[in-house]
Amino acid sequence: MEGTLRTIQGYLGEIPVSEISEEFDLIRLHPRMGWELLNKRESTRPYAEAALYHHLWYDEKGGYPREYTFKGNDNAILYQIITCADCLDAAMDSVGRAYSSGKNFDDMLADLRCNSGRMFNPDLVKLFDSENLQEKVRSLITKKAADSLRSQVKK
Ligand SMILES: [Fe+2]
Repeated sequence: MEGTLRTIQGYLGEIPVSEISEEFDLIRLHPRMGWELLNKRESTRPYAEAALYHHLWYDEKGGYPREYTFKGNDNAILYQIITCADCLDAAMDSVGRAYSSGKNFDDMLADLRCNSGRMFNPDLVKLFDSENLQEKVRSLITKKAADSLRSQVKK
């Protein structure tokens, strides 16, 4: 924990306090902070780059941090899958992430389609649009399934 706090202070130290006017400025630091934390241990190092890239848009014109590129990165598709999954999770979560009230799966699918080729890899959006995958995801996100998963984690 002490190392984590030092890391946060290190990042805050790079930005003049007067420029940190919005909570979003702080939120935008988390990919780099995750990368740094995961890089500290051999066991988590293979996942560090995923933390760094998980908010970069497919077209690289949005998201953050923007100084990185998917071009030439052999793991780009993995990071783009994580981006889709993270956005689905965040958008439908009405408890853990307080951005807004949770959306239903159909609204989230509409968002994926709307941002295909921009935020999200269009090939992945096509996969999410397949009936087979939709059926599997819907079964995983039902309240009963979520409760079952939670009880398994607690054991
Ligand atoms: Fe994130």
